Amino acid sequence: MTDIAILGFGVVGSGIYTVLSKCRNAPLNGVNIKHILDLRSFPAHPLASKVTKDFDMIIADESVSVVVETMGGVDPAYRFSLAALNAGKSVVTSNKAVVDKHGAELEQAAIDNGVCYLYEASVGGGIPIIAPLRECFTADKIIRIAGILNGTTNHILTNMRAEGKTLKSALDTARALGYAEADPRSDLAGFDTARKIAILAGLAFDRYIPFESIPVIEGIEDVTLEDIRLAEELGCVIKLLAVAEKVGDHVEICVAPFLVGTHSIFHAVNDVQNAISVTGSVTGEVVFYGQGAGSLPTAAAVCGDIARIISGASALPLRRECEPGFVLPYGGDYKRVTLANGKIYRVF
Ligand code: HSE
Repeated sequence: MTDIAILGFGVVGSGIYTVLSKCRNAPLNGVNIKHILDLRSFPAHPLASKVTKDFDMIIADESVSVVVETMGGVDPAYRFSLAALNAGKSVVTSNKAVVDKHGAELEQAAIDNGVCYLYEASVGGGIPIIAPLRECFTADKIIRIAGILNGTTNHILTNMRAEGKTLKSALDTARALGYAEADPRSDLAGFDTARKIAILAGLAFDRYIPFESIPVIEGIEDVTLEDIRLAEELGCVIKLLAVAEKVGDHVEICVAPFLVGTHSIFHAVNDVQNAISVTGSVTGEVVFYGQGAGSLPTAAAVCGDIARIISGASALPLRRECEPGFVLPYGGDYKRVTLANGKIYRVF
């Protein structure tokens, strides 16, 4: 039996209970949720008696070997993760803000304490992408990563196009479905996508790339129904894309809404689905597709990391710091098109 604690019993944290309670596969059938840290109580939940506000009690419980951090936000999630690692407990998270801001320090703490810090669920919801980047491209040199990395904005853009919904009403639907961040401006402004491409590019190009270093971050707040209709007249859809490409000794990154034609694999990626294209110099293009947000797919990715730890995963090698000038703006080569209403979009 492996005792775990879940910090934060919201959309993802509660999904872990649902996924684990249905899972009969080893080693996850031997996982016991011993503590749940949350400021709220859940009187009707089967695990109501496990809920506590006492983080120190969890840290002091030597039977807990894995702490799952699904709190969201940087603090106290970062502080709690570091304390858990320093107490000799592995940490699994879906929290991209913490991974992006403190990943280097937390991975170092994992090495120092002989445990793991894993974050498959921080990018792409249920899509396996972190482990493939780390494990499957070892023989290759990645030269480009491009993708739709945010389920909320893709859901919104799809709803605007297919049903003529306004951005605000489409956002309300995405929030009700549990896709959006607690502060959905992070989705709309492209910040969530930027955090995710920072994590992926960091893994691909062997650096810790901070979100702040990404030079172009544009969201979808200004995309209108008229833009979407005019794009359709050109045979295109509008998608919020992140692109990171190795050029010489630096990497060029941007996050922006693009016009995407039918030739692109991203054209048919709709609703909450995400797609991530990874191009290796010998492998060529590999595309990962699946549900990019939502309780159960994201919880399943968390559970995959728990299983890795139980099966004996060891801490991962550290990457280099991101030296100044390593990340530069992307898009100089992109063709830009002016729609009939005067708005200018990059073309992918
Ligand atoms: N708000 C995020 C999204 C959640 O919509 O993609 C998953 O990271």
